[in-house]
Amino acid sequence: MHIFHKIEELGNHFSTVSKEESVGMVPTMGALHKGHISLVKKALNDNNHVIVSIFVNPTQFNNAEDLEKYPQTLKEDVALLTEASKKIIVFAPSAQEIYKSGIKSDTYNFGGLEKVMEGEFRDGHFDGVGTIVEKLFDIGKPDNAYFGEKDYQQLQIIKKLVSLKKIPVNIIGCPIVREESGLAMSSRNERLTPELRTEASFIYKTLNDAKQKFGTKSALEVTKWVTEQFAKNKLLELEYFTITNADNLQTIKRKIKTKKYRAFIAVYAKDIRLIDNIALN
Ligand code: PAF
Repeated sequence: MHIFHKIEELGNHFSTVSKEESVGMVPTMGALHKGHISLVKKALNDNNHVIVSIFVNPTQFNNAEDLEKYPQTLKEDVALLTEASKKIIVFAPSAQEIYKSGIKSDTYNFGGLEKVMEGEFRDGHFDGVGTIVEKLFDIGKPDNAYFGEKDYQQLQIIKKLVSLKKIPVNIIGCPIVREESGLAMSSRNERLTPELRTEASFIYKTLNDAKQKFGTKSALEVTKWVTEQFAKNKLLELEYFTITNADNLQTIKRKIKTKKYRAFIAVYAKDIRLIDNIALN
C-alpha cells in the first residue's frame, strides 16, 4: 500500500506507469465505511490502478462546528483499504498542500443545480466541492472517478463540472449502501447515539412510503404527508423534503408519465445532519 501526502510523490509514482493503464479515483473525506468500500471495489474491478483520496475539504463546510467535528481516522481508513487491496494508492494531503494560495473556493455556475436543496441550505457548499474535485482530478488525472448516489446532487454537479471544464474523466455513480435498518451509510452515522441511530431508520422508511404514495398522489400531497410524519417525530427534525425531476433537480409541480423523478430529504438528528434520496419511478 502506497500512502502519499504530497502531490509530487503521487506524480512521481505515476510517471513510471504506462499511459495504456487505466487509473480510477475514489475521492473521499475519510472516516471510511462500507459505502466507500463498495466504490473502491468497483474502481479496483474497472481499473489497473486505484487512487483513494482522503481529504476533509474545508471549503465545502458552511458550518465551522461541522468541520471541526468531522471524524478524522486515517489509520483506521488505511487498515480498511488494505483489507480491500494492498495495491490501492492512498493520497492524503494536508490543507496547505492542496490550497497553496489560500483556503478558498472558486465560483461555479452549474446551471441551477447548485442552487437547490444542499445548495440552498449549505451556502457555498458546491463551490467548495467543485474546487476540490477539480483539483483532485488535475492531480490524479483519473480515467474514471467513482461517487455514491447518496450525494446524488453532488454526483449531478460533478458530471456538470467535467462537461463545463472539459475534464477527460468518466464519472461513475454507484448505488447507495445501507445499514441493515435501511439508514444510508454515512461517516456522520458514527456520531449518532444508539437511540438516534435506531430512530434514523425512519428516514428511509418514510422515503419508501413516499415512493408508494407517489404512485397515486401528487408531489404536493406526498410532500405534505412526509412533513406531517416528521412533525410527529420527537427525535428527528425535517430540514427539507422535495420531489424533483431526476435530471435538473428542480422541484416539480405536476407529474408527467415519461419523466423520471426522485425524492430528496435532509433531517437533523440532534446536531447531526443526515441526507438520503430515492428514485420514485
Ligand atoms: O462526497 C464527499 O466525500 C466529498 O464531497 C468529496 C467528493 C470527496 C469532495 O470533498
